[in-house]
Amino acid sequence: MIIARSAADVHAAVEGPITFVPTMGALHDGHASLVRLAAQGTGPVVVSDFVNPTQFGPGEDFEAYPRDLDADAAIAEAAGADVLWAPSVEEIYPPGFATTVDPGPLAEELCGASRPGHFVGVATVVIRLFGLMQPVRAIFGRKDYQQLVLLQRVTRDLALGIDVVGAPTIREHDGLAMSSRNRYLSPEERALAAVVPNALRNVAASYANGERRPDALLDVPLDALELEYLTVRAADLSPYDPDRPAVVLIAGRIGGTRLIDNLELDPIAPASAGDALFAKESA
Ligand code: PAJ
Repeated sequence: MIIARSAADVHAAVEGPITFVPTMGALHDGHASLVRLAAQGTGPVVVSDFVNPTQFGPGEDFEAYPRDLDADAAIAEAAGADVLWAPSVEEIYPPGFATTVDPGPLAEELCGASRPGHFVGVATVVIRLFGLMQPVRAIFGRKDYQQLVLLQRVTRDLALGIDVVGAPTIREHDGLAMSSRNRYLSPEERALAAVVPNALRNVAASYANGERRPDALLDVPLDALELEYLTVRAADLSPYDPDRPAVVLIAGRIGGTRLIDNLELDPIAPASAGDALFAKESA
């Protein structure tokens, strides 16, 4: 695997249609699963490693965000990446850079309500990374469900012709979704964090048993979680419709650490589907 510092170095190193996996580094097995999925296709796999300043708000963890290029390179290479691209801030935001990409009203909802400007920062950097890489396909995690839906919309709205693929959430043994931010949790907080996947599992179980009323579905224990939102929406994040595929989304804090997660709900799946879906995702 090659470590490239500039987009030009990436293009000098690879040939053929690129499958692209954008990340902010601090790679874990969730990221690795995206790279493994990318490597199943033909053509080179490029992983970007860039902590994007414009998607962090004031007082968020931009400075503290874990950075370790050597560790990231080992994980990306083992997962099958051909190039790890670690661009400079100047390459992504050169002097005079002035454009922003606004993905519309959904960017203000859910995570956007507590993180103003976050999804504009995400959409802007991803479109810039797409422009520099010119991939045919890009892989994102379903763990960041709102991000995936917004990026699929932007890519479609701007007719970029890039196939934006959503990959399953990879979880720890107790169901906690893997996240670069989990390392901020103390051992005590880490134990308490299982409340997040457990809440989703409870919603999915009652959904699988036929419950369709949102208030009843969302009436689950939240223990130590300082809840930001727990909500059920249609799979495209439009308002919930009991007869259509849905998704339950959660965000909250344990101690100072913000955690998000979600689980997709299928109205025509058999009664045990909630648990089966969860078990499949934790495998
Ligand atoms: P980052 O948080 O590093 O995540 C990079 C990709 O890994 C995202 O698509 C995310 O959904 C996916 N991912 C993270 N944890 C995962 C898990 N447990 N299972 C499966 N996939 C997981 O998301 C970003 O970076 C940034 O916003 C980015 C898109 C790179 C733009 O800066």
